[in-house]
Amino acid sequence: MPHVSRFVSLELEGDLALVTLDRPEALNALNDEVLAGLEGAFFALGNERAVRAVILTGAGKAFAAGADIKAMADFTPLEARAFAQRGQRVLNLIEDFPHPVLAAVNGFALGGGCELAMACDLRIASEQARVGQPEVKLGIIPGFGGTQRLARIMGRSFAKYLLFTGEAISAARALELGLFNEVVAPDQLLPRCRQIARIIASRAPVAVAYCKVAVNLATDTTLGHGLGHEAELFAQTFATTDQKTGMRAFIEKRDDPSFQGV
Ligand code: CAA
Repeated sequence: MPHVSRFVSLELEGDLALVTLDRPEALNALNDEVLAGLEGAFFALGNERAVRAVILTGAGKAFAAGADIKAMADFTPLEARAFAQRGQRVLNLIEDFPHPVLAAVNGFALGGGCELAMACDLRIASEQARVGQPEVKLGIIPGFGGTQRLARIMGRSFAKYLLFTGEAISAARALELGLFNEVVAPDQLLPRCRQIARIIASRAPVAVAYCKVAVNLATDTTLGHGLGHEAELFAQTFATTDQKTGMRAFIEKRDDPSFQGV
């Protein structure tokens, strides 16, 4: 498996990419080196013009069991702030990545691991996954966006329940709460993610990218501003070749338009 760093591998599969956290001995706990590896992988992917969707997963029995508690144990408040900001920058890079990122949640996604999954666009999980924000059991709060993204994804009420109790919930419960899009048998996790990613990769790339930008904006702005932005992006799609290709294919009753991403 080609590694971009000691703890993160990156594989290109045509128009898909697979990024794997590979620190299984520590359940893929996120320390500076893992965060740097993730950042490096997404920077590298930014230069891969063929890539249209990314799958992010973890090696072993965890997606990621959170920020590295051993690395954080002796932090001063200043060091803690810098670490939170570092993690947030890396997760923002994933959230703002121009193409969809699917979290393939293979096992534990706790604390920073849950936060990492939430920075992805879709979360497909194994039946074995367990997810939660256990920070209050450690005397801290989430620092990589948990309080913000959890509330945006599932609403304040369930977010507060998970944050206040620190309980890890099952994949089935996370599906009910809207945190996971889909739950599948463990051996179906990567095949199903590839299947979804390939569907996405077959759609008009500029249109998919604009959908991502517009939906990401939706929870950060007023309805009026969001609608204005949507109309502008809608207009811009009419400047693409793919709009002509897609509409011509419909009118000619063909369902196999080949999009160029321009
Ligand atoms: N940080 C550092 N090391 C971790 C870790 C973490 N978050 N999670 C697991 N590990 C290490 C363990 O210390 C252990 O290492 P050793 O063999 O050297 O002792 C190894 O990974 C295997 O873990 P366990 O033996 O504990 O495995 P388990 O199957 O018995 O339990 C678990 C699994 C329930 C996930 C348990 O490991 C656990 O509770 N982990 C911590 C989860 C957590 O609290 N995450 C939140 C971190 S804080 C955070 O993320 C803040 C933020 O927002 C930035």
